[in-house]
Amino acid sequence: MNPNDRVVLAYSGGVDTTACIPYLRHEMGCKFIVAMAVDLGQGEELDEIQEKALIAGADVSIIVDAKQRFVEEYGLPALKANALYDNHYPLSSALGRPLIGQLLVECAKNYRCGAVAHGCTGKGNDQVRLDLTVALLDPSLKIYAPARVWPFSRADSIAYSEKYGIEPHVTKEKPWAIDLNVLGRNVEAGSIEDLSWETTEEVWSLTQSPQQAPDEPEYISIGFHQGVPASLNGEFLAPLSLFSQLNIVAGKHGIGRVDMIENRVVGVKSRELYEVPAMQLLLLAHREIEQLTLPADLLAVKANLEAVYSKQVYDGLWFSPLKSAIDQFIHTTQATVSGEIKLKLYKGSAYIVGRSAEHSMYVHELITYGQNCTFNQNSAEGFIDLFGLPSRVWSSVNHSQKCEDKD
Ligand code: ARG
Repeated sequence: MNPNDRVVLAYSGGVDTTACIPYLRHEMGCKFIVAMAVDLGQGEELDEIQEKALIAGADVSIIVDAKQRFVEEYGLPALKANALYDNHYPLSSALGRPLIGQLLVECAKNYRCGAVAHGCTGKGNDQVRLDLTVALLDPSLKIYAPARVWPFSRADSIAYSEKYGIEPHVTKEKPWAIDLNVLGRNVEAGSIEDLSWETTEEVWSLTQSPQQAPDEPEYISIGFHQGVPASLNGEFLAPLSLFSQLNIVAGKHGIGRVDMIENRVVGVKSRELYEVPAMQLLLLAHREIEQLTLPADLLAVKANLEAVYSKQVYDGLWFSPLKSAIDQFIHTTQATVSGEIKLKLYKGSAYIVGRSAEHSMYVHELITYGQNCTFNQNSAEGFIDLFGLPSRVWSSVNHSQKCEDKD
């Protein structure tokens, strides 16, 4: 069998990826189809999904529990990089795609497949991320994307599956498109496309509305070790449980809602809703520990690289040489980023109320206006004299110029 006729499909159990199975076989000439469903914490019954793929005609159907790997290999590096796209989006959905792509490549190797496939349409970012991940990891693999070439509406996909005797388990059409994983939840389309539509409570599910949130504030503390969140309220936790617990605590206080306009890779703007309770708190706390422990020039360069990093991740370039080089830089910066941040959670907001760090650069004797200050104020005059030299030169050279202009 030609290896290109053997394919691994990233399978979600939805109407479109289900229609991909007969489509790959009957229209695209695939003879051996592995359906791979990846559990990133979408909270669905994956056994049912596994069964569904076999009914739809897959030769092999597998489930990969990738939740821990997702948090540790994708969520944590993104946190160390303070990754935030378009100022608001912690990339919760975007981070899942390079992992799915990586698993497609690994699975293709295991099953001796020369091709991989996915059910993404041609309008979104996910197709870009999956295609680029596969291209960066194994450019010899062929990529099939049936939903990018077929002319099907949702009703057509259902009819097409039925033609091959597949009942695609059509659930009532949801009013929005939802993507959920352990790092957060994304909601798009439907009424969200109307920019003047103020969201209603049904659209949110991980977060309580700030108005309904408890009337009493809650205090929590997050401990970091070398940039990695390692404890919650003094208890050491593995990253996956820490993220899961924080999602619950922050969500209860209405923290983590985002309603934003996003610049998609494919050039269009879209309105997106996100619920990222844990990520928002962790980003706030992580930045604070860095602010306390890293020198100002390092923080400034890191901030520039963080913007590049976030764009790379958003654009599907997780495995690019530029992103890998930035990862090395970020890794180096985190050696002293350890300590504890205390937060107050109250009705949709999180406030930093306490900070401590082993390598804190905050030195009380230097900053205090009280007694025993070790800051040498006598040095200030000489410092300003030299620091201000170019300013005085500029002013004296150009001031006379300006006076002449006036005459
Ligand atoms: N717009 C977001 C992004 O590009 C969310 C994508 C979610 N994916 C989905 N198939 N619903 O990262």
